[in-house]
Formats: sequence, C-alpha cells, structure tokens
Amino acid sequence: MHKLLELQLKKCFGKEWESSSDAPQFQKFLNLIHESYQDFDDHSAILHRFLEVNSKELTEAIKEIKKGHDLLHSVTESIQDLIFYKNLNFQYIGCNQSFANFFGKSESEFLGKNDFELYPMEYALGFRQRDTFIFEKVESTANEEWVKNFKGDDVLLLTAKHPLFNSRGELMGLVGIARDITKEYWLEQELREQQAILTQQSRLAALGEMIGNIAHQWRQPINSLGLIIQDLKEAYRFGELNRSYVETISSKAMEQIHYMSNTIDDFRNFFNPDKDKKIFSLNKSIENTKNILKQGIRNSSIECEISIPKDIFIYGYKNEFSQVIFNLISNARDAIMSNKPNVPRIKIHVKNKKDSAEISVSDNGGGIPPDILPSIFDPYFTTKPERKGTGIGLYMAKKIIENHMDGLLLVHNTKDGVCFTIVLPIEKKNQPHR
Ligand SMILES: Nc1ncnc2c1ncn2[C@@H]1O[C@H](COP(=O)(O)OP(=O)(O)OP(=O)(O)O)[C@@H](O)[C@H]1O
Ligand SMILES: [Mg+2]
Repeated sequence: MHKLLELQLKKCFGKEWESSSDAPQFQKFLNLIHESYQDFDDHSAILHRFLEVNSKELTEAIKEIKKGHDLLHSVTESIQDLIFYKNLNFQYIGCNQSFANFFGKSESEFLGKNDFELYPMEYALGFRQRDTFIFEKVESTANEEWVKNFKGDDVLLLTAKHPLFNSRGELMGLVGIARDITKEYWLEQELREQQAILTQQSRLAALGEMIGNIAHQWRQPINSLGLIIQDLKEAYRFGELNRSYVETISSKAMEQIHYMSNTIDDFRNFFNPDKDKKIFSLNKSIENTKNILKQGIRNSSIECEISIPKDIFIYGYKNEFSQVIFNLISNARDAIMSNKPNVPRIKIHVKNKKDSAEISVSDNGGGIPPDILPSIFDPYFTTKPERKGTGIGLYMAKKIIENHMDGLLLVHNTKDGVCFTIVLPIEKKNQPHR
C-alpha cells in the first residue's frame, strides 16, 4: 500500500518527494504528505488530483507510443519489400502496404487470419512449415520461393523470417521480410545461357582448328597405309606373298592405325568437358597439348622449347587446362606467322614455387600494342581477320584459370613478343595421376 502511495506521491510532487523516500525518514514523509495535501479539504480532492496526474501521464505515454507506432509505420510503408508479422497461432498481426498490394488485398483482410485461410494449399503448407521451424528452433530462416501475385504472375521472393520477442524476451511471433528477386533471377539465367553459348562457341572454334590438325596428322599415316596396300597387291602379283611377308606388312599397317587411333583419343579427351576436378600431371598435359599442335608448329618452322624442372601435379580440370595452353600456343603461333621473326620461337617454362606453379608461355611474335593490352581478355576482342579469329580464346582461358581453377592468368610484353603467365595452386600431396 505504501509503495503505491509512494509512487503516486512521487508522480505528483517529483523532487520534493525524493528527499522523503528513505525508510527512516518515513515520519518526515508523512509530514510532507500532510503539508502537501493541506490545500485539499477532502479525500476525493486528493483522489481527483491523483487521477488527473495519472491520466495526463497516460495521455503522454499513449502519445509516445503513437509516435513510435507512426514512425514504425512510416518506415515499413517506405520500404518496397513485403513486411508481415504473425503471432504464435500463425495469424497475421500486421503487414505493410507492399505486402497487402502484392496479394491485391487490404491490410485489414490479413489481420487475424492464417495462411490456410488466405492462400492456396500448396503455398500455405510451405509457409506453415517454415513458420513452425522458426517457432521450434527460435532461429531465423531465409529461402527463395515462387509465389503468384494477385495478377497471377509468378514472382520469386527471397523471404527472411525472424522470431519476434516481447520486452520480457519471450517468443511472441515472427516477422517476415520478402523481396521480389524475379528480375535478378532471369538476368542470372540469361547470363548463364550466354556463358554456355560462349563456352560452346569457344569449343567449336577450337574444334575447327583441331579438325585441321587431325587432317595434318592423319595425312602421313593414310599415305603410308595406301603404300602398304599397294605393296600387298604387288607382292601377290609377283608371288612373294608368304607368311612372313604378310606378318611384316600387317604389323606396319597396325602401327599406322594405332597412331591414328591414338590421335583420335587425344582429341576426344581434349574436347570432353571435365565434370570433376582431378589431380593431373602438368608435364603430361603440356606435352600432350603441344603434340596436338605439333604439325602446325612444325609447318611454320617454329621452335617450341619446353622446360619443366620436375613433374608437378595440379588439382583441377585437366582438359580445360589443356584448352588454355592450346589457346596460348595457337595465339603465339599466329603472332609469329604474321610477324615472321628470323628465328621463330615459343617457350613454355614451368617454375615450381612454394605453393604454386607458374607456367609461362612466351613468343617472339612482336608483342601486343599497349593500347589494346587491356582489352585482350574481353569476349569477342580480336585483331585477326574474320574467320581467322573469334576473340574468345583468351576470354575463356581467363575464365577457366581464374574462375574454375582458383589461379591467375597474367600478360606482359617482352622485348620481342608476349609472355602469358598462369599461376596455379599446387596439389600439396603431389599424388600421381589418377
Ligand atoms: N601471343 C600474342 N601475340 C600478339 N598478340 C596476341 C597474342 N595473344 C593474343 N593476342 C591478341 O589478343 C587478341 C585476342 O586473343 P584471343 O585468343 O582472345 O582471340 P583470337 O586469337 O583473336 O581469336 P580466337 O577466339 O580464335 O582465339 C588477338 O586477336 C591478338 O590481337
Ligand atoms: Mg586465340
């Protein structure tokens, strides 16, 4: 009772009351009451005064709450994201205009209703499942969900839901914030499709070059097979066809056929898109790629020098890596063929650093003019005549090394040409080829 009285007196008399709140000074406090209230002739006046003060206070408090509420309301209304609140019975206790507009309803149509009363079953089940998770785990969640808006359009919402607590820290419901990310989704899809087209075009461009190489590499064995068959015919005509003759000639023919079949295998491996990262030998990969390009390089009398101190193993996409080396060697060859240095030369050097391997491919083809240097990794940037270059070789090379293999692809001009450097993390265990 005293407590209540104390409280009320404090409200009425503020500071004066402070000095008498101490228990030992209770007498003083009573005196103060007496003094303070001597103007009031009866109890009802005192009560009236109390009520007046309390109601003033209450009005102030309500004003404050309303201010807070208005502020919260204008904040939530100014946000384009959809905002909603639910209580522990899964019923809506509020939402902003964006949320109501999204479903073509007014805010009041949501109040007190649950998802099953508002949406089709398939949506309501999903919403309920996530709300239950929040109430059980008392954890925030975020998910993407396709929802139909009131016009019937499919909209992808990124929805985050958080548990709501009262001032005593007790769970009282949840708040959800949903953002329309449909545009971003379709942009991303478009980008992915473009990426796939670029990858495909790059493969096709390389394939065209490869077919030229296959033709080169098969010309020799096909000639040899032709000669062997002719020889066989002659031997039969002249009665020389005995067992040992047939054996010699068939082993010669098989040798050519094996060579041709290996060439095909090499090419097939080269173009098979890798699905999984593997540990592979850098030496083997570079050597194989050089062999695939051998004929073209030899025809242009280019000296190709490879120096690798010891075998290094890399964890990544083996065939994609070969494609990068293939592109760098092809570019070096093209530069050399158009600049015609006295001693045409391509050098491939591998340095074994502490945690990485540095592979440099350099040439003496005259270099890249500094003004175009910043553009060479852009898609479709080429200085080659139409049909000779598509301008995606280096773009793809950079993507493969930097996005797929966590490495770096750098370029700089040297005194007589260009040097491309690939930096790749080394597979620590240095395991043998899988
Ligand atoms: N070794 C090099 N020496 C001189 N210029 C080079 C060299 N490598 C690349 N370039 C320049 O960079 C450009 C882009 O190279 P990129 O490999 O991306 O395309 P491309 O070779 O023109 O066409 P493709 O798509 O057929 O490879 C080339 O057109 C060329 O101007
Ligand atoms: Mg190229």
